[in-house]
Amino acid sequence: MKEPLLQVQDVRMVFRNKKQEFAAVDGLTFQLEQGEILGIVGESGSGKTMASLSIMGLLPEQGVIASGSIRYRGRELVGLSDKEMCKIRGKEISMIFQEPIMSLDQVFTVGSQLMEGILAHEKVSKEEAKKRSLDMLRTVGIPSPERVFASYPFELSGGMCQRVMIAIALSCHPRLLIADEPTTALDVTVQAQIMDLLRQSRDQFDVGIILITHDLDVVKDMADRIIVMYGGNMMEMASREQLFSHPCHSYTQGLLRSIPRLDASEERLFNIEGTVPDIRNMPAGCHFCTRCWNAQERCHTEHPALVEVEPGHFVACHRAEEFRKEGTAV
Ligand SMILES: Nc1ncnc2c1ncn2[C@@H]1O[C@H](COP(=O)(O)OP(=O)(O)OP(=O)(O)O)[C@@H](O)[C@H]1O
Ligand SMILES: [Mg+2]
Repeated sequence: MKEPLLQVQDVRMVFRNKKQEFAAVDGLTFQLEQGEILGIVGESGSGKTMASLSIMGLLPEQGVIASGSIRYRGRELVGLSDKEMCKIRGKEISMIFQEPIMSLDQVFTVGSQLMEGILAHEKVSKEEAKKRSLDMLRTVGIPSPERVFASYPFELSGGMCQRVMIAIALSCHPRLLIADEPTTALDVTVQAQIMDLLRQSRDQFDVGIILITHDLDVVKDMADRIIVMYGGNMMEMASREQLFSHPCHSYTQGLLRSIPRLDASEERLFNIEGTVPDIRNMPAGCHFCTRCWNAQERCHTEHPALVEVEPGHFVACHRAEEFRKEGTAV
């Protein structure tokens, strides 16, 4: 049987000091195929970035993967040495970071940063690396690649920097691209262009993409499958069609009802009161119970398992079956 591109199994990522540990991600389980776009959606603090940094092997200090498995094309990444991980990062798996500062160095030109990545991973001459860099800038829709090649990041607009980051991420033709909130800081028109570009990269290079966002609307037209995360846990995972046509988790339903719709301009938008709890202060039961309008007693004490309610549709809610039958719980 063909190996999936990425197979994440029950990953628990914690922040640990001498005395205690707190999970930022727990029970993360999913599979990604070549050429597939997986959206990971959730509010601020739900563990999206820690999930992606776990895959990249780039966790911050005190952050460790306590248990679970991350297989890339069948190969276990958890526990790989830095040296081994360096060979994979940038070449096989690339990431567009939420903080541009993690991706672009202000003191080097765009060209030198692009060439550095290519030269680190591939046996090509400097001339060839330059040619490929310029080609890649053209591929990501930069109109004057020679000029941008010689520019410093601070001389470019936000949208242009984002294109450059995508060019760097794609320059060694990775099979997997993780894009962490790639368009949050950009205006709507540029956002749409960047999303088109990601889709084209998938079509052109067959790259598998994990697209991370706090906004369900962003993944609506893009993702083949979607994971809704909350408080470090998966609340729901389904195909885009399943998730948008019959969401089973109250949190997903709340998120969907808070998206502005053109055809419902008079209706007041739904607002999920409150914020994601701190990882040091998660409820014992369902992590969403403190904000859930459908919570019952056991939701506060028993942690719900992620259950497959129909083929390919997973929900972690004690009342999932009830809500599935009713069609909607909101
Ligand atoms: N270095 C750290 N030390 C301790 N806790 C941390 C650290 N970095 C993140 N956390 C905690 O881990 C949890 C998950 O954070 P993460 O950055 O993954 O959230 P996110 O979903 O990416 O949020 P956002 O949408 O704001 O980017 C949060 O509760 C956060 O406070
Ligand atoms: Mg984040």
